[in-house]
Amino acid sequence: MQVKKLTIPDITQRKLHGPPISTLTAYDYPWARLMDQAGIDVILVGDSLGMVVLGYSGTVSVTMDEMLHHSKAVARGVERALIVTDMPFGSYNCSHAEAIANANRLLKEGGADAVKLEGGTEMAKVAAAIVAAGVPVQGHVGLTPQTAGSLGGFRVQGRESRAAKKLYDDALAMEDAGCFSVVLEAIPAPLAAHITKRLSIPTIGIGAGPHCDGQVLVMHDLLGLYDRFIPKFVKQYAQLSQISLEALTAYKNEVEQGLFPAEEYSFGMKEEELDKLLKELGG
Ligand code: KIV
Repeated sequence: MQVKKLTIPDITQRKLHGPPISTLTAYDYPWARLMDQAGIDVILVGDSLGMVVLGYSGTVSVTMDEMLHHSKAVARGVERALIVTDMPFGSYNCSHAEAIANANRLLKEGGADAVKLEGGTEMAKVAAAIVAAGVPVQGHVGLTPQTAGSLGGFRVQGRESRAAKKLYDDALAMEDAGCFSVVLEAIPAPLAAHITKRLSIPTIGIGAGPHCDGQVLVMHDLLGLYDRFIPKFVKQYAQLSQISLEALTAYKNEVEQGLFPAEEYSFGMKEEELDKLLKELGG
């Protein structure tokens, strides 16, 4: 059966009509397929892949080539969800021409439907330039992992009124730039509620409380596949590290004990063919 692909208007109108927008990160074909089957609305090819898939200590070293590689794999597995691919550090904090060229590549080669970039007021002009070039953009304000160092590390943003007002202005600036949605990361729930009320585009929260128009989590966090750092806002819906470790160890033990592969996992051969072979081998 032909599945209807979600569009940007399908997502934006959920702000008024609900239900809340479910978003998850994915980085490859099998998980993207499963998420699509589960009915996840937006699949984010996040640059968090640098940490959870490639083993980097942060997201700054992620390249355009890496984002393209993973975005293509995700796109091959998705029929329904909207695909948003992160613009990596250095791909949009440059000339507008270069930023537009990079955003175009993520759509043309990476199979994305939209791109996401981090930053507020200071990134509004480049976001507007990409939108004007015809590429849908999702903003990302609050804790922005690419610049976490200058924000004092991976910590909640906007707890004091002045910092909160700056984040409020940042979110507005992304709406004014023409973004179709904005991610709010690690900010107090009441601030996220005020921003969500004020904006006419959907807010997608991660560590931003229950009042956003949608939620996003990193799939490795949700599935219990990454334990180097588990933020307070993460709910682990499964413990796949443990289950996987048990399966891997069982395999290793069965190989060592000669229990795998048993007969049901092996191919046979007709008796007469085996006899012929043995004759040929002089047996
Ligand atoms: O890269 C990513 O996974 C993200 C989410 C944390 C929103 O940007």
